[in-house]
Formats: sequence, C-alpha cells, structure tokens
Amino acid sequence: MNRVIISPSILSADFANLSREVSAIKEAGAQWVHVDVMDGHFVPNITIGIPVVQSLRKATDLILDTHLMIENPEKFIKPFVKAGSDILTFHYEACADRAGEVIDLIKSEGVKAGISIKPKTDPREIIPFLNKVDLVLVMTVEPGFGGQEFMHECAMKIPVIKENAPDGLVIQVDGGINNLTSKICTSLGANSLVAGSYIFKNSDYKKAIESLF
Ligand code: DX5
Ligand code: ZN
Repeated sequence: MNRVIISPSILSADFANLSREVSAIKEAGAQWVHVDVMDGHFVPNITIGIPVVQSLRKATDLILDTHLMIENPEKFIKPFVKAGSDILTFHYEACADRAGEVIDLIKSEGVKAGISIKPKTDPREIIPFLNKVDLVLVMTVEPGFGGQEFMHECAMKIPVIKENAPDGLVIQVDGGINNLTSKICTSLGANSLVAGSYIFKNSDYKKAIESLF
C-alpha cells in the first residue's frame, strides 16, 4: 500500500515567512501543501487567496492542495489554476445543485478535482460524484479555523466513502489531526491527512510529520 499523503495546512504557519515554512515542511518530508482559502461568507473567517498561491508557486515545487471554503467556487477555478494550484477542492454545500458541473470545470482546466463535506453533511450525498473526482475531503471540524478539536463522529464517514470509492481515490481528512487522531482516520480508510496546528506548533516538523504515520 502506498504511504499516506501528509498535507500540512499553512493556516498555522508563519505567514510572514511562508517561503521558509514551505521549504521546512518539504525538508521534513511533506509532498503536498494544504492552502486554506476562506471568503468570510461560506465560513466565518477570511484567510488567503490567489496572490498567495501565485507566490507559493514560485517558492515551492510541492503539490499545492487548495481547499476552497468559498461560495460560488466556479468563479474562482480559472484564477487559482492560473496562479498554480495543482488540486482544487470545493465544498459540496456551496454548490450542491451543480457539483457535477463544478467538477467538470476543474478537470477541464487540467488539475485534480476534490469535493469536501462539512461535519453535518451526510456522506451518501456525494456518492454519485466519487467516480468523477480525484479526492474527497472529509472535514472533522467545522471549517473556518485551525486548532479545533477532532470530531470523532465525522471520522465514521470515512468507511462510507471508502466502500464506494473507485481505485486510486484520495480520501483526505482535515481538522484536529494529531498523532492519535491520524491513526483513527487511516485505520478507517483515509490515505491523506491535513494537519495544521499539530505540525506548525511543533518545533520539529519532521518529528511531527513522522508521528502521524
Ligand atoms: C479548517 C481548515 C483546516 C485547518 C486545520 O477550516 O480547513 O485545514 O487548517 O487545522 P488543524 O490541523 O489545526 O485542525
Ligand atoms: Zn483545510
């Protein structure tokens, strides 16, 4: 079995030194960088957007795993792809009536498409899309902020996705991941873990990443 993909969330990194931070996580063994985009509407917080992705693209060759916590995601697909995102994950709740079209649009831009669900969303709602996407992101906190506590009941969605997943689907988990909750998720079938505060608040990123396996 392939190794679990770790995607450190830069939401908990030092934003004044992002270039240094992404180099440090690469050095520590990460292959992906998780970029949390928030619009103050879909979630009650505002973070970063297109110009930051553009700068990150120049600073690193790591996979830019972009988590769009925004309304009307279809409006921003082209700009994020142009800026350098490799994966665009949107929220099903932001466009439930047109999720298939949003996936097609992302794929037509030549990048990987991910679909994410919030804690209260039934995983069975996205089963019709599993054959179209490259990645499913199961939120294990309410999206909006780093450093929240892992919601165990959300992890129980992982087997529902796994049972219906085509080969090669990335099943990613985001929120409250640490050295203990990571193992709960991987034993249930997750093969990618997003971790923000657990990695960036640790003085040794390599040790923190290794402890997730
Ligand atoms: C939350 C974000 C997460 C966040 C995770 O809305 O989507 O990616 O950075 O942070 P931790 O790992 O601290 O829960
Ligand atoms: Zn995220």
